[in-house]
Amino acid sequence: MKSRVFSGARPTGRQHLGNYLGAIQNYVSLQGEYTCVYCIVDVHALTSLEDTGSLQKNIHEMMLDWLAAGLDPQKSILFVQSHVPEVMQLHTLLSMVTPLSWLLRVPTFKEKVKLQPHNVNYGLVGYPVLMTADIVLYKAEVVPVGEDQLPHLELAREIVRRFNNLFGNTFPEPEAKLTSFPLILGLDGKEKMSKQLGNDIEIALSDEATIERVMTALTDPARRYRSDPGHPEICNIYRLQRYFNPFQLDDIAEQCRSAKIGCVDCKMLLAREINSTLKPFREQRATLAAKPRYITNVLADGAQRAQVIARETLKEVKLKMGLI
Ligand code: AMP
Ligand code: TRP
Repeated sequence: MKSRVFSGARPTGRQHLGNYLGAIQNYVSLQGEYTCVYCIVDVHALTSLEDTGSLQKNIHEMMLDWLAAGLDPQKSILFVQSHVPEVMQLHTLLSMVTPLSWLLRVPTFKEKVKLQPHNVNYGLVGYPVLMTADIVLYKAEVVPVGEDQLPHLELAREIVRRFNNLFGNTFPEPEAKLTSFPLILGLDGKEKMSKQLGNDIEIALSDEATIERVMTALTDPARRYRSDPGHPEICNIYRLQRYFNPFQLDDIAEQCRSAKIGCVDCKMLLAREINSTLKPFREQRATLAAKPRYITNVLADGAQRAQVIARETLKEVKLKMGLI
């Protein structure tokens, strides 16, 4: 039997370059070698109750992005977290073997407390336990994620070790798999690219909208006039050129340092490359968008396949924990 891969992402709607370069690239490339299970984690999204009215639309948009980017429902299991409710039971069971102190020290929990002080809910503390349940329900060994998820993965490994010690070897210790671009910064050039922070570039934008968005990016703050020499090593646009324009990198760096090109030229170069790289993706997305029933069918089929595995694992866990 092939080893399993699991990953999940919150239904934030259209995916951005951070998701694409940090995670989706690996989701796609792992499909040949492993049995892959990819999940839209709608229950996790409820830990930050903002706009639940758009959840269904977001799930649909995200799935369009995933499929158009190359996720293949013939090869991978694609589903929505709440459609396989066994994960909620496993979450409760794992919560009994997870010390509260481990959860309170998770950096993302501390960040969320700052970001939403009016809504520090119980689910937010348990977020990494639910994430662990997601992974171990499928006994996944490999978890493709961006760098921001590493503390969660570390905790998942600790929970697995503890469970295996207490109840006998049951779950493999999941390992994170990063891409070569595990942390993409946003248009502000400071924070990680994220929808919540409003500093993202969606991959499904039109060519014109992509150019407009790239033009708003902050570059080297020391370069205030066109004639000022630039510092590519600290410029986020240059970092993105590494992925989209790998063959012109040295030229761009030299022309920036000597002020032969300005930031607007450099951004235009980047935006054009983003558009040409994403052209096949965008065409495929438009084709799929015309077939909304297809997405519903893919998700229904994915949930069914996922549930077969989920039920088996949950039964084993209940047996080991003395519940049956
Ligand atoms: P999210 O949209 O936060 O649920 O993230 C979905 C996946 O994309 C996770 O594996 C994240 O680690 C990854 N990801 C999100 N934002 C970024 C970013 N700015 N750079 C790299 N990876 C990211
Ligand atoms: N916490 C992840 C994020 O915010 C989403 C997620 C939920 C996940 N469950 C997972 C990622 C399991 C990998 C494996 O992006």
